[in-house]
Amino acid sequence: MSLSIGIHDLSFATGEFVLPHTALAAHNGTEIGKYHLGIGQESMSVPAADEDIVTLGATAAAPIIARHGAERIRTVVFATESSIDQAKSAGVYVHSLLGLPSATRVVELKQACYGATAALQFAIGLVQRDPAQQVLVVASDVSKYELDSPGEATQGAAAVAMLVGVDPALVRIEDPSGLFTADVMDFWRPNYREAALVDGHESIGAYLQAVEGTWKDYTEQGGRTLEEFAAFCYHQPFTKMAYKAHRHLLNYCGYDTDEAVIARALGHTTAYNRVIGNSYTASVYLGLAALLDRSEDLTGRPLAFLSYGSGSVAEFFAGTVVAGYREHLRTDANRQAIDRRTEVDYARYRDLHEWRFPTDGGDHATPEQTTGPFRLAGISGHKRLYQAR
Ligand code: COA
Repeated sequence: MSLSIGIHDLSFATGEFVLPHTALAAHNGTEIGKYHLGIGQESMSVPAADEDIVTLGATAAAPIIARHGAERIRTVVFATESSIDQAKSAGVYVHSLLGLPSATRVVELKQACYGATAALQFAIGLVQRDPAQQVLVVASDVSKYELDSPGEATQGAAAVAMLVGVDPALVRIEDPSGLFTADVMDFWRPNYREAALVDGHESIGAYLQAVEGTWKDYTEQGGRTLEEFAAFCYHQPFTKMAYKAHRHLLNYCGYDTDEAVIARALGHTTAYNRVIGNSYTASVYLGLAALLDRSEDLTGRPLAFLSYGSGSVAEFFAGTVVAGYREHLRTDANRQAIDRRTEVDYARYRDLHEWRFPTDGGDHATPEQTTGPFRLAGISGHKRLYQAR
């Protein structure tokens, strides 16, 4: 009998601050309908100067360790595309902040917003090899574009932590997967840049190509039919993208694109992304969190996942919601992670956006801004210094 492997627990964290799109619109003279309806965003998380992918990742993962312990975790996979070091895995800092055992392998994975799905699939492979083990997957990103660029409205920050193991309490991940890779320059970040470069319209086209490509492969691999899925969790750089993607998939499969049907299929998957903004690798799993938290009972229902990472790599796969999953959700904590953010005005957001360490190798403390359990205290001799509170 094949093992049941999947997501046993899921927890997320987001930044200390939030910028409403009304403030951005007032600054740049954009009609607010473009943000609220055109791209489907209401606000975006902005990290404090003393937050980064490590503090967000540790904050997301800490409740999982508190609930399950770390005895069975022998691997930590940290997925990000806003990496803080070219050599050392951000996961090693998280491992240290969480006090995980030394008998652990830790690695960082990168392929734009697709990285967390690669991490999930690799984790399943490890669990298949030794079902006694669990894998901690951490997807953490700060989405940053140039000020006053079209991408500015699609920033955000969040981390999702998932515990992967046998007999999962939330979602059993299924075979097969539909895969698609194409060498395109729709979004990239050269080593010397902090903000990503993006051709936004090209990236939308490349994403839709990937929807077709992954679906074609998924069906060729003997996957489920479209009608079987209760809901579709898409990667959401902005929530309207999920609607574009699903409309495209329905068209590609020869179905009508009735807006009510599309809204039902996307269910509640956009609720968190709409107020958090783009969280790159974490985004598709924030979609899952919102769906599980807000939907009617989904027990036994198959869900579809479409993970897209610019550049580009994408995967379409399915998961089935496990009986009793509602008892394991973190709905209150998830709401709290969003509600605890402090609203900033445009000027404060701009200062936070432009904050960065000098690169002189000297000692530099960060201003104490975050109220979260972990902070980036400063840098000394080119080394980042983290604190657990
Ligand atoms: N009311 C309602 N909708 C409005 C509007 C208004 N007043 N003004 C514009 N819109 C709509 C547009 O019609 C368009 O909708 P459509 O895509 O369905 O045609 C949408 O708002 C966006 O307008 P657009 O002119 O295309 O915006 P833009 O040139 O500023 O670019 C992005 C939008 C998303 C491409 C840009 O923010 C970006 O580059 N983001 C980063 C890259 C990204 O997220 N890529 C996604 C794939 S990974």
